[in-house]
Amino acid sequence: MITNSVKTSAPSYHAAIIMDGNGRWAKERGHPRFWGHIRGAAVASKIIEEAVNLKLKAITLFSFSTENWSRPEIEIRVLFKLLGKFILKEKKRALDKKIKFRVIGDLTGLPRETVKIIRDMEDMTRDFGGLKLTLAFGYGGRAEILSAVNLHIKNNPGQEMDMEKLEKNFFAPDLGDVDFLIRTGGDHRVSNFLLWQLAYAELFFLDTKWPEFAPSDLRNVYDRFLKRERRFGFIDATSELKKVSQMAVENKTVIGTKNGK
Ligand code: IPE
Ligand code: IPE
Ligand code: MG
Repeated sequence: MITNSVKTSAPSYHAAIIMDGNGRWAKERGHPRFWGHIRGAAVASKIIEEAVNLKLKAITLFSFSTENWSRPEIEIRVLFKLLGKFILKEKKRALDKKIKFRVIGDLTGLPRETVKIIRDMEDMTRDFGGLKLTLAFGYGGRAEILSAVNLHIKNNPGQEMDMEKLEKNFFAPDLGDVDFLIRTGGDHRVSNFLLWQLAYAELFFLDTKWPEFAPSDLRNVYDRFLKRERRFGFIDATSELKKVSQMAVENKTVIGTKNGK
């Protein structure tokens, strides 16, 4: 049967997550901090699966910040190892679901074999059109903005910068703005994550520590996000028009009464 119905696809969103609370979660259970990171990596896999189910267009996970370099070397080394293992584990899903994988951040200082694993996965998934999965590793929002500005100055000496040019010089230029941000672990801050891209994101701060974060928590936040009214500085024109015309009617009545008409 031929129908004339027009297919409209639902909007798709970019979620960003600050996966915080691994160390405290482990300590509370009498384990070393790295225990929390191991569990945290497994949780990240489940969340990616759920992001695919929810048909998000992008998910960006904060895995290691520029400031995290000041942690003890042993913890940093565990995080590098976990990163490599995590990517290798995610390979199958990336192929099955056409996930476009990227890492944003400065990879200087990472073991050569880890960088190779990252670059291989990026190359393999470069042309995929599914979920954009981005890990922010060695990442800082300020560093990203600075590096975009410096790249512009280098390539266009003497020319002014504008927003479009700046975004084109970001680590992943097509990633775009974040629609909603989740931070687990109880703190209410952005810790230098995607400073530019978060400009109009809806923010969700949860007490749950990352190793306990479940796919149902992501779904729950997503549902709450869909109910939020995003105004982007505007007002709801329809309801405002109704209000104005109602006021006009009321004023007329008042004026009419005053004039005794
Ligand atoms: C987040 O968990 C993971 C990274 C920053 C690498 P933390 O390691 O910050 O855990 P807490 O916040 O100390 O509990
Ligand atoms: C933010 O967590 C970075 C990551 C989750 C990778 P931190 O634990 O480093 O943030 P602060 O130090 O509490 O701000
Ligand atoms: Mg933390």
